[in-house]
Amino acid sequence: MERSSAETRVRELQDLLNQYNYEYHVLDKPSVPDVEYDKLLHELKKLEEDHPELVTPDSPTQRVGGTVSEQFKKVSHRTPMLSLGNAFNEEDLRDFDRRVRNSIGDHITYICELKIDGLAVSLRYEDGLFVQGATRGDGAIGEDITANLRTIRSIPLKLKKPFSIEVRGEAFMPRSSFIALNKEKEKQEELPFANPRNAAAGSLRQLDPRIAASRNLDLYLYGIGEIGETGVQSQSGGLDLLSELGFKTNNERRKCKTIDDVLEYVAEWTEKRAELQYDIDGIVIKVDALSHQEEMGATAKSPRWAIAFKFPAEEVVTILHDIELSIGRTGVITPTALLEPVLVAGTTVQRASLHNEDLIREKDIRLGDHVVVKKAGDIIPEVVSVILERRTGEERHFSMPDQCPACESDLARIEGEVALRCLNPKCPAQIQEGLIHFVSRNAMNIDGLGEKVVAQLFREKLIEDVADIYSLTMDQLINLERMGEKSASNLLKAIEASKENSLEKLLFGLGIRHVGAKAAKTIAQNFETMDRLREASEEELLQINEIGDKMASAIVTYFEQEEVSELIIELKEAGVNLTYKGPKLQRAENLDSSLAGKTVVLTGKLVQLTRNEAKEKIEILGGNVTGSVSKKTDLLVAGEDAGSKLSKAQELGITIWDEDQLLEEINGQEV
Ligand code: IVH
Repeated sequence: MERSSAETRVRELQDLLNQYNYEYHVLDKPSVPDVEYDKLLHELKKLEEDHPELVTPDSPTQRVGGTVSEQFKKVSHRTPMLSLGNAFNEEDLRDFDRRVRNSIGDHITYICELKIDGLAVSLRYEDGLFVQGATRGDGAIGEDITANLRTIRSIPLKLKKPFSIEVRGEAFMPRSSFIALNKEKEKQEELPFANPRNAAAGSLRQLDPRIAASRNLDLYLYGIGEIGETGVQSQSGGLDLLSELGFKTNNERRKCKTIDDVLEYVAEWTEKRAELQYDIDGIVIKVDALSHQEEMGATAKSPRWAIAFKFPAEEVVTILHDIELSIGRTGVITPTALLEPVLVAGTTVQRASLHNEDLIREKDIRLGDHVVVKKAGDIIPEVVSVILERRTGEERHFSMPDQCPACESDLARIEGEVALRCLNPKCPAQIQEGLIHFVSRNAMNIDGLGEKVVAQLFREKLIEDVADIYSLTMDQLINLERMGEKSASNLLKAIEASKENSLEKLLFGLGIRHVGAKAAKTIAQNFETMDRLREASEEELLQINEIGDKMASAIVTYFEQEEVSELIIELKEAGVNLTYKGPKLQRAENLDSSLAGKTVVLTGKLVQLTRNEAKEKIEILGGNVTGSVSKKTDLLVAGEDAGSKLSKAQELGITIWDEDQLLEEINGQEV
């Protein structure tokens, strides 16, 4: 396509996609189906790839990217980001109202807003373009998390008017994203987040913006940093302006003339809050007129014209009927309370983990007790306490068995651990859990082998260890209950495909103690083949940064077992890949490369390499590829038809290579 017509189309697509994005993520009213959006985005990506000089920072293709430094830069807030005083009951709110009326008289309007439970951020726009996003920090100095905030699709990269403005709001993780994220974490044997707030904060503190991008965060704006020339005269007017500029503001806000109206709003939302798609931890009540706010002023910590009403955590009473024991793949026995179903914060709760025996003792929990239940972080059910007054004498003590409920071997409590464990490596419950883990998504990812099918195959003795999965036949599968020919054939295909997985998936799937998905990747990257890993000593393993004593010793112990050697031979014979297939590690010797530590920009059309190949290879040689030319750029690689980036680099006196020079460097280093 001609450059000028490409430019027209690129701008057209950028505007259209930004508008669709706004309709979807801010207004919650999509006007086109997702496939249409994806199609146009693909077209834009392609055009921008061919004409990189047409990429602008507000292009919808530029949400995920930016350099990843080791630490977040500090950002000074031009106006401090204050916090709020708290109210816990009606009396506290009436006291607040009295203070307000004493100070400015009876003609006041309050505005009530939902207090979103996330973390406060500040967003700065210059001439309508998003230039910086920061955390609240200590209120005076926060951290620059621009790259992560850019991934939040409801944050406009460009405003509807070219304002220079600093705005504030609450970034949060919707409940559905939180639940999905924790499920994934559990599968990967990582610690789940305690609540959506921690999950949102954790996501925004990631150095790699791709992680934040995958977390489905969202943001409601609730204020303007510096009112300046905006003409805004009230909090409600400020929120209206924010909406006009393209920001997402929360529509549940309400103006109230009296404290009784405020109390009614508070009561309404105390009831209704479970229905929301996101967590709120209270209601913020603000005096609406800015002139009144100025009159009242602020203390060093918080404004006098606003207060936060905090909800109490919802607690309900129910009966604990029984305690069920489950056996994990590492043999840990976990007790779970089976409760009379009860509604807590919007969902029915009938099970709550009791974690371990000590906790049951500490809380003196007995079968048949009336117990108080709440949801920790409003999500995870928890038994808070026993109501002793409601004991009838019929309740029964619970004690953990001495033997494993599945294999009857003796249970042991390992020194320093609270958990009881079944130590029998042949325990059928552990083996079954291990098989379920082996086929799960982050491990060998065998579609069609869900928990139920694995249990069925295990029961029928068709699989006894993970290698048996690879000798399953069509005949065996179609004879299973509820397994048709089509599903059986799909399952066999999925099993076959899993043989090609890179080593880290197998390593994680084997369920070696302390080796989670991330560690498995690092190990695979460092040792590259199963054979090399099996020969590794603890000392060699400890050379790797992320591997500590416990993990190193667990790995060596694991590979010392004879059954493990046999298992690996079986897997090899079945044709399962035992090598690492991902990008090679950036080893110390590569640092000889003249690209090591350099910031490189690619522009123009590359002929012999795709852009991704070039990027990957530069990164292997220790370089860092960024999108735009600045004083920080060390090297520009200019392909054919390079445009404005080339002239800018020439102006700045930056070293310029052509594709051949890049290839020479790459080939010289044998990447
Ligand atoms: S106004 C000076 N409005 O609550 C007033 N805060 O405890 C600053 N929050 O740090 C805050 N929703 O993170 C305000 N609608 C809302 C809010 C809200 C959530 C958070 C915010 C703030 C904290 C105050």
